Amino acid sequence: MTLLVVATGNPGKLREMQAYLENSGWELTLKPEELEVEETGETFAANACLKASQIAKVTGNWAIGDDSGLQVDALNGAPGVYSARYAKTDSERIARVLRELGNEVNRQAQFVCAVALARPDGAIVLQSEGICRGEILHTSRGNDGFGYDPIFYVQELQLTFAEMTRELKGSISHRGKAFAALLPQLYTLSSSES
Ligand code: IMP
Repeated sequence: MTLLVVATGNPGKLREMQAYLENSGWELTLKPEELEVEETGETFAANACLKASQIAKVTGNWAIGDDSGLQVDALNGAPGVYSARYAKTDSERIARVLRELGNEVNRQAQFVCAVALARPDGAIVLQSEGICRGEILHTSRGNDGFGYDPIFYVQELQLTFAEMTRELKGSISHRGKAFAALLPQLYTLSSSES
């Protein structure tokens, strides 16, 4: 099996990514902890490409990168690519979004995830994007997941992301959709590589 370096340092995202890529035909390995890629892109896709490409070049292996975040309609898409940097901790980030939304009636929002696969020379060979629509609650609900999960409510399931099992969240989430879209091509590539 060919080695695939996963370009993330976020343990919550890593657990989800490992589950999605378990049967992808690639042998997954984590990026070296000291390798940090600055997310200077203005879109999720640009940041996913930056991460995959730089980690591939530095390690000399295939690499997969993702970038994701929350976009709140009434906040003109904020926090967007700044989701991870919106405040110091998850609870402070949630508090900031709730403060900025106030009593706004339109609480529509979406999570977006972009994924990119880079060859060992850094060239991007595959890209995908997944979106999951939901609503921002007035207060947190649920104890699982990470990030903005406790305030992101999915109407069809009547649950927040933080109230879902990992499997259920993965079946409808932005990240689940982005990885599912990539899997068939990842299989094909892995068989031509090995
Ligand atoms: P990234 O590591 O640059 O992709 O940052 C993504 C940030 O967006 C995370 O740190 C979270 O704050 C937020 N985020 C992305 N995906 C999720 C999710 O599935 N649940 C909750 N928060 C998420």
